[in-house]
Amino acid sequence: MEFPTYVQHEKLKSWVRDTAELCTPDSIVWCDGSQEEYDRLCKLMVSSGTFIRLNQDARPNSFLALSDPSDVARVEDRTYICSLRKDDAGPTNNWVAPKEMKDTLQHLFKGSMRGRTMYVIPFSMGPLGSPISHVGVEISDSPYVVVNMRIMTRMGRAALDVLGKDAEFVPCLHSVGMPLAPGQEDVSWPCNKEQKYIVHFPEERSIWSYGSGYGGNALLGKKCFALRIASSMARDEGWLAEHMLILGVETPDKEKVYVAAAFPSACGKTNFAMLIPPASMTGWKVTTIGDDIAWIKPGKDGKMYAINPEAGYFGVAPGTSDKSNPNALASCAKNTIFTNVALTPDGDVWWEGMTKVEPAQLTDWQGKAWTPGCGRKAAHPNSRFTAPAHQNPTIDPDWENPNGVPISAFVFGGRRSTTVPLILQAFNWNYGVYFAATMGSETTAAAAGAVGDVRRDPMAMLPFCGYHMAEYFNHWLQMGREVSQPPRIFSVNWFLTDDQGQFLWPGFGENMRVLRWIVERTQGRGVAIESPLGWMPRYEDIDWTGLESITPERFRDLESVNRELWKKEIVSHEELFVKLYDRLPKEFLYMRQLILSALWRSPEHWEISYDI
Ligand code: GTP
Ligand code: SPV
Ligand code: MN
Repeated sequence: MEFPTYVQHEKLKSWVRDTAELCTPDSIVWCDGSQEEYDRLCKLMVSSGTFIRLNQDARPNSFLALSDPSDVARVEDRTYICSLRKDDAGPTNNWVAPKEMKDTLQHLFKGSMRGRTMYVIPFSMGPLGSPISHVGVEISDSPYVVVNMRIMTRMGRAALDVLGKDAEFVPCLHSVGMPLAPGQEDVSWPCNKEQKYIVHFPEERSIWSYGSGYGGNALLGKKCFALRIASSMARDEGWLAEHMLILGVETPDKEKVYVAAAFPSACGKTNFAMLIPPASMTGWKVTTIGDDIAWIKPGKDGKMYAINPEAGYFGVAPGTSDKSNPNALASCAKNTIFTNVALTPDGDVWWEGMTKVEPAQLTDWQGKAWTPGCGRKAAHPNSRFTAPAHQNPTIDPDWENPNGVPISAFVFGGRRSTTVPLILQAFNWNYGVYFAATMGSETTAAAAGAVGDVRRDPMAMLPFCGYHMAEYFNHWLQMGREVSQPPRIFSVNWFLTDDQGQFLWPGFGENMRVLRWIVERTQGRGVAIESPLGWMPRYEDIDWTGLESITPERFRDLESVNRELWKKEIVSHEELFVKLYDRLPKEFLYMRQLILSALWRSPEHWEISYDI
């Protein structure tokens, strides 16, 4: 087999050679990451029907892909952590013995790329050459993956140069699982409708993905590497790989505070990361480091430093508007790949919530004619845009700082229509870890399956933790012992509703009011009172100028703690603990008792009182 002369890495060469022998592609392309290569592949996909070129004036250099209707989200039930010991994957992950899984995969991948081109895609997670960064190489038979990886990571020759002759890389093998017989015509979105496997081997740090071309199933640098494999690396090496956005807050005194926040999929990370403060909050500014993943390492000064390992946004489209998130709209104004949104007659894109008035006619995400009131959604609820991070108007000047930024607060939040207050601060690190570990959220369309059930989603990492979840809790507790200035921990819930199902909290830019209190607490300035669950702001501790809708009564509802609901909540903590009993930190059992005790001490329905 011929290799480009610049490929000097023997281990990489032999992996590529073995993979080609197994998958038998028609040809092999080494991706260099250039604009020419990107343009060539986009053109190729336009002619094959995978891409629709969007109107050059409305959406320069942008494309729309419509997936197969069966391949629209991550497949959690087909995702495996194949550690040597079943116990190491833990009860929240699917597990198969590595040898058995390798046999299955060898069989599936055999000839899986017939009739297709095999792309070799070197990429760096994190800025090129940063001491916090790690390199991976994805082999894929999907040109859609190549162009998305070019936006989402630092991809191409430069990543290969970092590898040199013998540096470590994470091998990531991907096939859409639809080989073509001679003369067989391709489809616009090849995938395997019968079989999908998203498989991780944590000990050998490798990834095999078969059968899907969508998002986290196929762009293997993201969830598979930067979360599942990286969380396992992080446990071994003493750092954290988290499903967190990272943002910077500049105060009117020009102080800079960095906050990282974990919300489950499609629960508002991108919105929070790009927040625009209300006009009345003069002097407050928010900048974005990242919107989905944070790699966090202890610094010599005892603080935790975070980088965003990604270079782009794979953001949820529906609900993104000029009102809810202008920065996301600006980020995807050009050079963007849209997947499963609707097409307007003049060649632009549209999705639910983009404009108040729905367009009179559209082509929907399944390629069918759509008119308002036809009873179908125009865009799939998990439709997404892939946009370069540097196009975000409020990108933080330090977003590519190889040393990361110091984190002052960790914020955890789920989608809860009841029970969990708008904002509270944990009494201390261990208590905060408990709160984060027992977090629940109503499920969204970001994963295949039921939408709307409350499930425990510890640290928003349930689908992404690459090892035993209780061991992960222990690792978090241990990090708090090792770091002298760990971030303060907060819990938020933007999603409380009234009896009619209307949101009690306006959210989006108004979240700045809560964020300001968080920032001030980390600076030792904000005032708080003690509730049964943690520290809470009083009404007068939050800046309400320009927001009349939140009266003291409404705020009391947003911060109330209902004992009956919390009894149920604690029973469901217990369900999680029973599942994880063999490695559960002993601290958690005591903390649960302390919360129960505080709930019984306080009135049945605890409310902020105004005569303190
Ligand atoms: P992944 O990319 O899937 O990890 O998710 P994400 O957390 O980045 O998702 P994103 O920010 O795109 O979440 C989008 C969904 O959250 C949409 O349904 C928004 O309407 C909703 N959302 C975001 N912020 C708020 C908020 O402050 N209040 C309310 N009520 N909804 C919000
Ligand atoms: C998520 O589901 O949390 C995502 C999208 O960020 S995907 O990359 O498809 O997993
Ligand atoms: Mn995510």
